[in-house]
Amino acid sequence: MKNATNDLDNLEETLDKIIKSKNFTYGLGRALRHIKKEIFLYKNHVAGIKKWGMNKNGLSTEKIQVGGGDHPLNGFLNIDIVPPANLICDLREGIPLPDKCCSLIFNEHFLEHLDYPTSAEKIISEFSRILKYNGKLIIGVPDAELLIEKYFRRDNKFYKTAVNHWFGKRNLLPYIKTYIDLLNYGLRDQDDDKVYTPHLWAYDYEKLNSLLIFAGFRKVNKWNFDKKLANPRRKFGTLYVIATR
Ligand SMILES: C[S@@+](CC[C@H](N)C(=O)[O-])C[C@H]1O[C@@H](n2cnc3c(N)ncnc32)[C@H](O)[C@@H]1O
Repeated sequence: MKNATNDLDNLEETLDKIIKSKNFTYGLGRALRHIKKEIFLYKNHVAGIKKWGMNKNGLSTEKIQVGGGDHPLNGFLNIDIVPPANLICDLREGIPLPDKCCSLIFNEHFLEHLDYPTSAEKIISEFSRILKYNGKLIIGVPDAELLIEKYFRRDNKFYKTAVNHWFGKRNLLPYIKTYIDLLNYGLRDQDDDKVYTPHLWAYDYEKLNSLLIFAGFRKVNKWNFDKKLANPRRKFGTLYVIATR
């Protein structure tokens, strides 16, 4: 393990040097920045799992939020790959908690950031594993059906609201010139950004329902936005479902 860490440190140093030199093609630059990001996530994961193993701070696992980012929930165990989560780990590796340890799992704008099918199916089966009988899982994702429906109808009021709400503060306005640009950013997001990670899969109700039933959930319904749990800025354009284990 120590050797692997040393090798990664060396690789990171080399990557930094190459990236700074700018002496390569645009395509290779994108790939190198991607590797750098994955090394950063890997190091967070290893350090986070070690810290969690040493000190769980008596935190309850009854209610869990995954992928909450800068919107941690009080009274929940918040799990994410970046601070300020209570447990920092890469959820593509699974959830480092025992079977049937919780009654409620909440996540919004997280699932679409995982690759499909490998990590998406894995995390849904992990949710199923750690929930008690009758436990609830709430998932919120960008509502792909809504976006596509608005696109087909060329709904200009929705277009203007969505562009400003989602991308107004992200210096993307010059690149959103037609409706299909909104659809692309909405469903994929930026694929080469230092902060934002891309969306790797689009979801509608039918798809979530199918994934959840396959993983052993007994019932799936739409969930009404409730600001006691959900991030207020997610109210617009999010599809939420609630599934019962
Ligand atoms: C778009 S943000 C959403 C944050 C918050 N839920 C909200 O709605 O404002 C996606 C979150 O998922 C987390 N995330 C993405 N991939 C992850 C992974 N593999 N493991 C753990 N967390 C991950 C990111 O770090 C980020 O905090």
